[in-house]
Amino acid sequence: MNITVQGVTFFYRSTPSLTEVNVDIHESEVLGMIGPNGSGKTTLLKCINKILEPKQGRILLEGKHLKKMSRLEVAKHIGYVPQSTVNNPSALSVFDVVLMGRRPHFTWQNSEKDTEKTWEALKTLKIEHLALRDFYELSGGEQQRVLIARSLAQEAKVLLLDEPTSNLDIKYQLEVMNLTRKLVAKQRLAAVVAIHDLNLASRFCDKVVMMKNGRVYAAGKTHDVLTPENISSVYGVEVVINYNKEIPYIIPIEPLN
Ligand SMILES: Nc1ncnc2c1ncn2[C@@H]1O[C@H](COP(=O)(O)OP(=O)(O)OP(=O)(O)O)[C@@H](O)[C@H]1O
Ligand SMILES: [Mg+2]
Repeated sequence: MNITVQGVTFFYRSTPSLTEVNVDIHESEVLGMIGPNGSGKTTLLKCINKILEPKQGRILLEGKHLKKMSRLEVAKHIGYVPQSTVNNPSALSVFDVVLMGRRPHFTWQNSEKDTEKTWEALKTLKIEHLALRDFYELSGGEQQRVLIARSLAQEAKVLLLDEPTSNLDIKYQLEVMNLTRKLVAKQRLAAVVAIHDLNLASRFCDKVVMMKNGRVYAAGKTHDVLTPENISSVYGVEVVINYNKEIPYIIPIEPLN
């Protein structure tokens, strides 16, 4: 399933958070979305997931206008893992949170298949032992894994992950990124991963979109985009690049003034 973002402009108030953004999202590819705080990554993911509606431009899902699709229809195709979760005083079990991913598939109530898919997703993320725990009592990293499991249970063809590794320890960072790659290859999914860790992006993303002030500053193959020049003009930081097994790793040296 492919998605085309064409000339998308969005503003919450008067200043635009996205300006004429074009992005191509292809199946069987992991697309990294990088850029400084406030550069528009989350806003763009929300437009693609139809949580927000672009003021200008259009988004096509397999050639079909997102504008003409219902939220439920979009949810059958697109899974979204938000950047952070809010605390909610009402208790909700981990199992129920993951089962909620099946909602677009329910008819009038959940079936055995929904329960099966839920357990499968919990197993894949290695969190079966958390199934009966209260979601809101979990650590940030545990919650992140639960939400990834939810998008798996959803059987979406497109995964939008907003900083999925930000709360994870180094082992789970690698596990989540490896899993994303594996799913993308095996099930021919498309994944878009907004990520601050340039080294994880360098290692796991096929392509990247680099955002600056709500615009696409550079886009293309990961290693063509992650150059010291691009990084210094977008982040204002001097970096050096070292190689390990042909993968470039970025070492920040100093902020530029
Ligand atoms: N609900 C909102 N109301 C008003 N302005 C908003 C809202 N959400 C985001 N913005 C603004 O839109 C711009 C883009 O924000 P966005 O959250 O998309 O950035 P981001 O690239 O995801 O940043 P981060 O790396 O910090 O997550 C920022 O200037 C932000 O202040
Ligand atoms: Mg964000």
